[in-house]
Amino acid sequence: MAHVDQTPLVRAPTAAAAAVSSSPRQWWAGSEQGLPAGLDWISTRELARLEGVRFTKRRTEYLLRRWVGKRAVAARLGLPTDDTSLAGIEVLNRMSGAPYVVIEGVEAPCEVSLSDRAGTAVAVVGGTQRALGALGIDLEIVEPRSAGFVTDFLTPAEQAWVTGPAAEQGALGRDAAANLVWSAKESALKVLRLGLRADTRWVEIAVAEHRRGDGWAPFTATWRDGRVLPGWWRREGVYLLTVATEQHVDPPEALAGAADLAAATPVHSWVDRPLVTPRE
Ligand SMILES: CC(C)(COP(=O)(O)OP(=O)(O)OC[C@H]1O[C@@H](n2cnc3c(N)ncnc32)[C@H](O)[C@@H]1OP(=O)(O)O)[C@@H](O)C(=O)NCCC(=O)NCCS
Repeated sequence: MAHVDQTPLVRAPTAAAAAVSSSPRQWWAGSEQGLPAGLDWISTRELARLEGVRFTKRRTEYLLRRWVGKRAVAARLGLPTDDTSLAGIEVLNRMSGAPYVVIEGVEAPCEVSLSDRAGTAVAVVGGTQRALGALGIDLEIVEPRSAGFVTDFLTPAEQAWVTGPAAEQGALGRDAAANLVWSAKESALKVLRLGLRADTRWVEIAVAEHRRGDGWAPFTATWRDGRVLPGWWRREGVYLLTVATEQHVDPPEALAGAADLAAATPVHSWVDRPLVTPRE
C-alpha cells in the first residue's frame, strides 16, 4: 500500500549530511536489483502516475528513477531510507515533465534531475542554492550509432568531431563520441526544460577530452541564441554520464551508497514480459 502523509515536516539534516551538503551538486546511482520489494516506498501521487503505465519497461524505468531520485535526496539531506521515509520524499513532475521534490507535503527547494538506461538510473541533486539554476543529467551506454543517426541529430560541427580523427583515433572512439554528444544534448535540453520537444541540432556540444584526476571532463552546450550551458561528463565502464547546468560549478560529487556504474551491467529485464498484467 502506498503511504500518504500530509504532515508538513522538514527533518533536520544529520551531521553527516551537513558535512557533505556544502558541495553545490551531488549524484547517486542505483540499479534495478536494488529496487525495494513492494510499493510502500512510493506516494499516492506517484502511484497514480504508475497506474497509467501499461508497459513493463516504462513502469520499471519510472520506478527506478523514482527510487534513485528519492535516495539521492535522502543522501543529500541526511534523511532515513526506510520505505515510509522514502514515501514521504516525492519526486513529482511539472507540466513540462521536469521533476521536482516534495518532502512530507512541502516542496523542497532542491533541484533534481533524473535519467535511466538499461537497468541503471542516476540522479543529480542541488542544494538550496536555487540561484545556481537548473540541472540536467543523462545516462547512456556506449552502443553503435548509425551514420543516419549522426547526420540526422547532430550539427555539422558535431558530426565533424564524431567522425574526425580526434574521436575516431582518440581515446573515445566514434560510437562513444556519438553517444556522448547525444547524452550532453539531452542533459542540456533538460536544463532548458524542453527535452526532445526541441530539435537536437538547436543545441551544439563541444567536448573536452582531457579528463581531470577525478574522471570528469568539461563540455559546453551552446543554444541557438548563443547562450552557453556548461557541463561535465565521465565514462564509467559501458556507461557515459553527463550533467549540464545553467551556471558553471564544479562537477557533482558522488553521494555515499551509490551503485558502482563502472561495474554495472546493462540489463533489459522487461523483454520477457513487455506488458504489465492487470492489477499488478
Ligand atoms: C526529457 C527526455 C528527452 C528524456 O527522455 P529519455 O532520455 O528517454 O529518459 P531519461 O531517463 O534520460 O529522462 C527521463 C526523465 O527526464 C525528466 N524530464 C522529462 N521531461 C523533462 C523536461 N522537459 N525537462 C527536464 N527534465 C525532463 C523526467 O524526470 C524524466 O523522468 P520521470 O518522468 O520519471 O520524472 C524526454 O522525456 C522528453 O523529451 N520529454 C519532453 C516531452 C514529453 O513527452 N514530455 C512529457 C510531459 S509529461
